Amino acid sequence: MVISFCQAVVTCVLLVWFVRVTDGMPDPAHRDLLLRQEASRQTGGTVTLTAAEQKLDSYLRRLKEQEMSAAQFLPALHFFKAKPLIQKSSIFKLLQKMPKGAALHVHGSSLVSVEWLVKNVTYRPNCYICFTWDNSVRFLFSDRQPFPRWDCFYWQLLETLRARVGDPTGFDNSLMQHLTLFTEDPDNQYPNQDVVWEKFEKAFIAAAGLITHAPVLRDYFYRGLEELHSDNIMYVELRSGLSRTYDLDGTIHDKVWTLKTFQEVTKKFIADHPDFVGTRIIISVHRALSVSEVTAAVKEAIQLQRDFPDIVAGFDIVGREDGGRTLWYFRKALSLPAELGATLSYFFHAGETDDEGTDVDQNVLDALLFNTKRIGHGYALAHHPLAKELSRKGNVAVELCPISNQVLKLVSDLRNHPATVLMAEGHPMVISSDDPSLFGTTGLSYDFYQAFVGIGGLKANLGTLKELAGNSIK
Ligand SMILES: *[C@@H]1O[C@H](CO)[C@@H](O)[C@H](O)[C@H]1NC(C)=O
Ligand SMILES: [Zn+2]
Repeated sequence: MVISFCQAVVTCVLLVWFVRVTDGMPDPAHRDLLLRQEASRQTGGTVTLTAAEQKLDSYLRRLKEQEMSAAQFLPALHFFKAKPLIQKSSIFKLLQKMPKGAALHVHGSSLVSVEWLVKNVTYRPNCYICFTWDNSVRFLFSDRQPFPRWDCFYWQLLETLRARVGDPTGFDNSLMQHLTLFTEDPDNQYPNQDVVWEKFEKAFIAAAGLITHAPVLRDYFYRGLEELHSDNIMYVELRSGLSRTYDLDGTIHDKVWTLKTFQEVTKKFIADHPDFVGTRIIISVHRALSVSEVTAAVKEAIQLQRDFPDIVAGFDIVGREDGGRTLWYFRKALSLPAELGATLSYFFHAGETDDEGTDVDQNVLDALLFNTKRIGHGYALAHHPLAKELSRKGNVAVELCPISNQVLKLVSDLRNHPATVLMAEGHPMVISSDDPSLFGTTGLSYDFYQAFVGIGGLKANLGTLKELAGNSIK
């Protein structure tokens, strides 16, 4: 038993020692050694710091001690209440300056802040709005009065409506409310997961009419890269369904057009910001689709990855896991690339659930069985020892999105997030933002703050930050 744990000589010696000391006052030197041993296992635990970095590390630790002893511990609050306080935090300000590497779990349709969507996009000419029976909104750019649709009977020119309402600030704020989950009263507005997810899906649909207007998509994507770049991020992988886009006269563009647009805008952005490295797309479909629809999407993704190898990273299935179809349900579709002798990388959302033991809870294992390159969320991973081992051995990183998990009500106090265990063990992990516009974040600094202060606690240090950023590049 002891022998099988002997990965390093030090560990062997330690274990033998451990066995020998049985009673009386524990040897303080032994205790120190154990503490150091344990600390070395955490994320960043073996990173060596230069003298200058050690100085910064002590400074960070002092700041963290202050924040932990403050009247309100911010990662314990709902992010919507904590956000203005986090903005004042010295740790947060340092994190904003830190090079954070790559943002690897961001959904394309929630990339850009809603302020920009409302203040910029809805002020463009030919923008129509319609209020649906379920108190949601739809937008449409059109060069003529749009026809009524099943969900929209009466379209109004936004410019005319705005002039008639007379309170542009109040009106714009109400529009923003339709496009984001952000609110000052999250506890009453979102009493449970079902309610928050319903609003979540509605906000996506409301934003779609704006973002899928072809000229807007270009600006939107460029703006999204600007927001990431100004938060010191050098690369992004976007989950995107590559929705069809439309022109003023109703002309429709296909997925290839959207991919080419992503490619062109990225090129232009890099020309304007030479320190930015690039963008890739993880083609995503919704788990509400049927097996045959997902099969068709997998086939198409194989072709698109072949045609655009520099911009298509792979494939994912998205949408709420709880109550949704499992990866195993789609097993026939997902084995298609192997059957065809084709390659298609998978980047599955898996284990974004706290329903332990349900079919959905097995998504983490199935994602690994299908050779996923990373695990989106992996919130459930900590209580699947075997899947956890596979993920660790295969270096399949968990994409940890702390604010998303809190806002979507998997956890309230981030000190109780299961990633505390993963981080203490140095499990491969990257930090990401999931749906920045819906949660009211930009870049990765807010999520880094929550991971560093809330989940990592006092023991997460500068080495932890270095390793997290380094992981995203690896
Ligand atoms: C909207 O954004 C575009 C592209 O980013 C920019 O050129 C334009 O000046 C903006 N307009 C307003 C009103 O802010
Ligand atoms: Zn996601």
